[in-house]
Amino acid sequence: MSAQQPRCLVFLNQKGGVGKTTSAVNVAHALVRSGHRVLGLDLDPQGHFAASMGIEGLDPGLDDVFFNGVAINDRAQQARDGLLLVPPGPRLPEVEQMSGGRERGWILANALEQIGGGFDFVIIDCPPSSGLLAINALLATDDVIMPVSCDYLALEGLAGLMRTLMRVEQGLHISRNKFVLVTRFNGQRRLPREVRGKLEEYFPGQVLRTAIRDNVSLAEAPGFGQTVFEYRADSNGAKDYAALAEDIRHRRVLEPAEVNG
Ligand SMILES: Nc1ncnc2c1ncn2[C@@H]1O[C@H](COP(=O)(O)OP(=O)(O)OP(=O)(O)O)[C@@H](O)[C@H]1O
Ligand SMILES: [Mg+2]
Repeated sequence: MSAQQPRCLVFLNQKGGVGKTTSAVNVAHALVRSGHRVLGLDLDPQGHFAASMGIEGLDPGLDDVFFNGVAINDRAQQARDGLLLVPPGPRLPEVEQMSGGRERGWILANALEQIGGGFDFVIIDCPPSSGLLAINALLATDDVIMPVSCDYLALEGLAGLMRTLMRVEQGLHISRNKFVLVTRFNGQRRLPREVRGKLEEYFPGQVLRTAIRDNVSLAEAPGFGQTVFEYRADSNGAKDYAALAEDIRHRRVLEPAEVNG
């Protein structure tokens, strides 16, 4: 047993392709590089978190935790020094059809209470859906980080997600720290700047300070089973995720004056 429970971060947005996995991978590695021990959980049956780290998603993993009561530690694989990762496993999609009562939502939270290994952070990547997997992530975590891609006009979707989250929190009598993460940001263009300003207006005190810029190295790195720090350590993508990991550690959000500055 670790002396202290690790802090848990979940990357969540039911919208696809907003940068959940890219953020899980690179925040995890940034935290490892700053000396922390990290456990990654790939809660998306697509297995992109595991694949991006060079781990085969079809190995047994979180599916064994959900269906067979296997301990998380027993399915964790060494991804890097200081970074262990649990792949989704082939049966993870079946979780969404699991029968039973409310306790189905607490399986991951209960399993995480049992982990050993002295981790500082647990990082969970979610699928682009809002079913039982997402509920399990929400119940297990301290912080929810919602990536929003500035490519899309994502404000409406995010407002909906925020409302849904608050309803779920009320229903389950829980409360989570909620953060918005701006991804695929292009500060040269007017629209993304406006979107970022609006986000700060709608979600004051919840927008993480560093916006992740559009950067080709971030898109290329997973194809080599590498994080951006391994693939192009001097890229804007590496700089942004290193800064973001610090923001997350210190829960640093955008101040109103910084939005248009
Ligand atoms: N800042 C960025 N710059 C350039 N490309 C990016 C950036 N962030 C993400 N991408 C690319 O955009 C695509 C979607 O990103 P990612 O897979 O992280 O999103 P996701 O939210 O996890 O998607 P899904 O909902 O399917 O799981 C990927 O091809 C990724 O490489
Ligand atoms: Mg993903």
